[in-house]
Amino acid sequence: MDKVDLKAEADKALKKAYSPYSKFKVGAAILTEAGNLYTGCNVENVSYGLTICADRTAITRAVANEGPGMKLREVFVANRNANGVSVPCSPCGACRQFIAEFASQDTRVHYAGESGEVTKSVSELLPDGFRF
Ligand code: THU
Repeated sequence: MDKVDLKAEADKALKKAYSPYSKFKVGAAILTEAGNLYTGCNVENVSYGLTICADRTAITRAVANEGPGMKLREVFVANRNANGVSVPCSPCGACRQFIAEFASQDTRVHYAGESGEVTKSVSELLPDGFRF
């Protein structure tokens, strides 16, 4: 796949969010080692704990398409608050663990930080993450 604008893809994906409870839209765009693009959005539920984050939606789509060998090259997470404004928002703890499952040392995660876009490795985002 040619160079993909992951930020633009994540911004497009968040428009599909189902977030009637938080009114917070999240979009994720991922590029896999195989060179494929997948996107996802958050999908909330009236039983709040069943909500699925955008990041995990995109990753499950990638595994469903590529199979268990899927590896992440890049992840971009974008958001809009109830006023349609992008605010500082990093992947939640559950998503960090989920990203780590399919990451390599070279995987990079991008998101809106306090002063613009932030890029981090997975070990920076989840030092000492759970493993057997
Ligand atoms: N959310 C995500 O989609 N990804 C994250 O990494 C953090 C949180 C969603 C879940 C919920 O629908 C909304 O943001 C507010 O918590």
